[in-house]
Amino acid sequence: MAKILIQFAHPALERSRANRALVEAVLDVEGVTFNDLYEAYPDFDVDVAREQALLLEHDIVVLQHPFYWYSTPALMKQWEDLVLEHGWAYGSRGTALHGKKLLSVITAGGGEGAYKPGGYNRFTMAQLLTPFEQTAHLCGMEYLPPFVVHGTHALSPEELDNHAKDYRRVIEALRDDLLDLDKAKQFPRLNSNLAEVLPSAIGGNLCTAATYFSRLSSTWQRQ
Ligand SMILES: Cc1cc2nc3c(=O)[nH]c(=O)nc-3n(C[C@H](O)[C@H](O)[C@H](O)COP(=O)(O)O)c2cc1C
Repeated sequence: MAKILIQFAHPALERSRANRALVEAVLDVEGVTFNDLYEAYPDFDVDVAREQALLLEHDIVVLQHPFYWYSTPALMKQWEDLVLEHGWAYGSRGTALHGKKLLSVITAGGGEGAYKPGGYNRFTMAQLLTPFEQTAHLCGMEYLPPFVVHGTHALSPEELDNHAKDYRRVIEALRDDLLDLDKAKQFPRLNSNLAEVLPSAIGGNLCTAATYFSRLSSTWQRQ
């Protein structure tokens, strides 16, 4: 069973709708460590030793955040700048992250149709995320297609709930090495054709568990 570290960055979680739903769906998944960066480092004073130790302890690193100005909230960038040190994460002796997987989990106000040549945002999400893909490559990590929830402002509660259930399915399948990564890499985002990349048996069971947990944890809040 792979160990998954969710590095989470949202500067105003109390106003979050999309990320909050996603987080609540995976918080109790066995093998998952949830690291809320804005909670841990409200002054941006990132504890590099703690963060590097966390990375070493896990096999899969998830970067979960809202899309802000085509990138991450500022603290996640600060985390990257400080934690991914030369000689540790990259460079001839920087092999600490070799062989681990990197997954971006992103919520975006813009709809999927806005992210294309000629669209409102002109570039595809894959193009805009190339800094993350190259960061993973430089650190010897396997970059997975991102899990993206588009059009957050227009999502109905039911649609949001379905995304949250999908997120849980993906996290559990990744943990259990059940995701067909070769197939997933043919799609622009991990969650665009989930039925094709997940074993079919996973769907039903996890739906039930996710629904149960989201009721159980509906009062969960950042302390
Ligand atoms: C400072 C800021 C920058 C944003 N930049 C983008 C952007 O570049 N592209 C986009 O699609 N949405 C953008 N948005 C919208 C957020 O991505 C959206 O509100 C968020 O994903 C919703 O998730 P939440 O409910 O967890 O806050 C931005 C929002 C803020 C506050």
